[in-house]
Amino acid sequence: PMQEFLISYTNGIKNEVAFVFDIDGVLLRGKKAIPSAKPALELLNTNKIPYILLTNGGGVSEKSRVEFISKELNIPISPSQIVQSHTPMKALAQNNLYNRVMVVGGPEDKARYVALEYGFKEVITPGDIIRQQPSISPHHRYTKEQIENFTKPDIDLTKPIEAVLIFNDPRDAGTDVQIVCDILNSVEGLIGTKRPFDDGKDRQKPSIPIIFSNNDFVWANDYPLPRFGQGAFRITVEALYSEMNQLKHNEKLESTIMGKPFKIQYDFAHSVLINWRNKLIANDVNDANDLTLPNLNETPTNSPFKKIYMVGDNPASDIQGANQNGWESILLRTGVFKDDDWNHIVARPTAGVFDNVYDSVKEILLKNG
Ligand code: G3P
Ligand code: MG
Repeated sequence: PMQEFLISYTNGIKNEVAFVFDIDGVLLRGKKAIPSAKPALELLNTNKIPYILLTNGGGVSEKSRVEFISKELNIPISPSQIVQSHTPMKALAQNNLYNRVMVVGGPEDKARYVALEYGFKEVITPGDIIRQQPSISPHHRYTKEQIENFTKPDIDLTKPIEAVLIFNDPRDAGTDVQIVCDILNSVEGLIGTKRPFDDGKDRQKPSIPIIFSNNDFVWANDYPLPRFGQGAFRITVEALYSEMNQLKHNEKLESTIMGKPFKIQYDFAHSVLINWRNKLIANDVNDANDLTLPNLNETPTNSPFKKIYMVGDNPASDIQGANQNGWESILLRTGVFKDDDWNHIVARPTAGVFDNVYDSVKEILLKNG
């Protein structure tokens, strides 16, 4: 189906508008498709309007994520049409900024293989340490099978870790917050060590850098109320780090945060969107996982798009990010946002609030003629 779908674009794209869809709370609730998602994407395909997915989700490869969504929505979606929270980290790997990293979060140890595929030379997970030194986390939640199947036996714990990368929400947050804080307060990334308290250095600076791949305090799965996301995990890490380092109330852990609403993510997604539009026009049926690799912090120049519509359910990520990066924003009622939030949301949509994604796309297409 991707082949026919791409060929239909050869006679050009109308209006040079594009859509960018959030996933959780827009297309899916947990693992279930939101009913209006399929007709919405079909309407864009019929009207030859390019779109990509921009999610703060992750923990798995871009390829496997779009395969799951394609199946669930029964619509062909290419790996070149998705940006996950950690997708920009591929550029870090390619720049050889860090070779030996700790990767935290996501299902099983799938994020390990994503990081290796991105090009990080050595990847360690908290589970790998549990396997050799289970007492590092007294109440860890790993079963024998999980240790056997999702951890490595031969990790050299005497070599320093160069960066901590949070790929997705932790599955054993107690263990992850303990091990992350150990490393942030270690002697240069060495597991099992603790830097001297009075080394005269600025205690807001961790021993090695930590990068969070998104800042979602909450997100919408299939439970009726929003659930804590990676932003909540970051607050936990910051609170315990502050306690360990006796930081003052106006001091906090120094970290990098990617994902929506930050500019780095929108610039990266904009480049991916332009690449996808060019593939459509060139009728490039090679829908292999040839993820373009935009440079980090590079705003695309001479974009072909008159308007880019971001469709999301979370004002603090989807709407704020779009508004701050010159895109139009559409807020839906199918996820985090509810109407009685209206007076205290951090950002309001420029192109309206809709009951679901199909109503929003239909309305915009009518307006754009
Ligand atoms: O972990 C997923 C959650 O943070 C939100 O994902 O698709 O709504 O940006 P999404
Ligand atoms: Mg969402």
